[in-house]
Amino acid sequence: MRVRPPDPAALAEAAQLLRDGKLVVFPTETVYGLGANALDAAAVRRVYEAKGRPADNPLIVHCLNAGAARTLAARWPEGASRLAAAFWPGPLTLVVARAAGALPAVAPDLPTLAVRVPGHPVARALLEASGVPIAAPSANRSGSPSPTRVADAVEDLGKSVALYLDGGPCVVGLESTVVRVDGPPELLRLGGIPREAIEAIVGPLSFPRHGPVVSPGMKYRHYAPRAKVVVAPPGELQAWWGKPGTGFVVSTESGLAGPHAVVPGSRGDGKAWAHALFSALRDLDAAGCTVIVVEEIPSLGLGAAVMDRVRRASQ
Ligand code: TXA
Ligand code: MG
Repeated sequence: MRVRPPDPAALAEAAQLLRDGKLVVFPTETVYGLGANALDAAAVRRVYEAKGRPADNPLIVHCLNAGAARTLAARWPEGASRLAAAFWPGPLTLVVARAAGALPAVAPDLPTLAVRVPGHPVARALLEASGVPIAAPSANRSGSPSPTRVADAVEDLGKSVALYLDGGPCVVGLESTVVRVDGPPELLRLGGIPREAIEAIVGPLSFPRHGPVVSPGMKYRHYAPRAKVVVAPPGELQAWWGKPGTGFVVSTESGLAGPHAVVPGSRGDGKAWAHALFSALRDLDAAGCTVIVVEEIPSLGLGAAVMDRVRRASQ
């Protein structure tokens, strides 16, 4: 497997590989992405093959700045400008009305496109060096936890990727927040920017839990390790403790500790939990756990996105 630190030579090679239609795994501030040249239909198809991703689940297009993202949109509403100014570069994805003919290979059947300006210096250097918009889902096999370390992506995708850029562990640890802005703002996926922070800019968000599937990816089983995931309120943790083959992701306050217990931080520290969750699920899997018990933490700030991922993993 070709894994390289993101020095200038590796970045130049990765950019050339993208322009040649190959796949490159690169770090972002959220999770590792599996990148392809968004202008190249065959390369975009290879992303779906490598991930085993259902064809109706569209990809996010990564751009160097808001100006570049805007050229892909038919309209750029006031809400998009305000959110872009507040959170880009960063862990926010905007779903906008697609400009006529823009990136026909990405989500060909949808009238919209998802765009994001990442903040990670390696992602930015790759966008700059390649000169193309990069379509990139999370660099995991469809259904498994997103990779927050390069080794996680290598484990899932192996030789289908031409080059892996190793930028170390991702700071945020879960994916971007997805907001639809081609009408009244809607929250399509909880993620790295807390709901409260977005509502402070554009007012209350609706959260389409029911009705037509607006973010196609949300209907599939997601984020799941091989082990069965159980969400337990703090009062029920003791009942699981000591059961053979059981791993734990628990708060400092739980007082639990041991080789199969990952302790991201305090119950109120959603940021620490977001950073640690996916790597904990993968590490406990690798340690041979068949059940992973995750403590329920308050759904505030990033804690809401953490609980969203844990609940989906437990389904
Ligand atoms: O943080 C992230 O967003 C990472 C990094 C690599 O940027 N990417 C990521 O991509 O999480 P992915 O493909 O794993 O998740 C993209 C989500 C899916 O739920 C997908 O359905 C939704 O965004 N999405 C993409 N295009 C859409 C569109 N046009 N309308 C609605 N939802 C869309
Ligand atoms: Mg994903």
